[in-house]
Amino acid sequence: MTFERGRGVIPSSFFIFAGLISVVGLISCNKKAGPSSSTGASEPSALVKRGRSVYQTQCIACHNSNPRKVGALGPDVYGSSRELLEARILRGEYPPGYKPKRETHVMGRLPHLKSEIDAIHAYLNSNE
Ligand code: HEC
Repeated sequence: MTFERGRGVIPSSFFIFAGLISVVGLISCNKKAGPSSSTGASEPSALVKRGRSVYQTQCIACHNSNPRKVGALGPDVYGSSRELLEARILRGEYPPGYKPKRETHVMGRLPHLKSEIDAIHAYLNSNE
């Protein structure tokens, strides 16, 4: 058995090729380093984003992570009015004359969310 290797098998054009690839690589890296943040009008507002994060952490144990759908325990809550959210979350009640989607009283009060009602309301009435 012989392990002879030819000398000069790699033609010099290989090095030119390799050089070209690294130059192209450098150029495309530079392009990526450009400004990345786009402030499109379709971006949800800061309030909506905040409401989404509150909802996705505090509510989806029972409600669906998609507020338009019925959850494991709670009903769909998309489009809830501010009055309903405030009454339900802070006081465990419903606004006068409101017909609840469920007759049960499983959901407890969550008074620590007092300052988040506006955000939750914005999220539940957005197109997010
Ligand atoms: C422990 C489970 C649980 C958690 C957590 C919970 N909910 Fe509920 N929610 C329910 C249930 C169950 C109902 C149906 C009424 C009942 O049994 O209390 C309900 C009812 C509601 C209603 C009234 C719907 C209607 O139109 O009748 C709203 C609005 C609501 N929840 C919003 C929220 C929001 C917003 C959060 C988070 C801040 C939340 N809930 C957290 C279980 C929960």
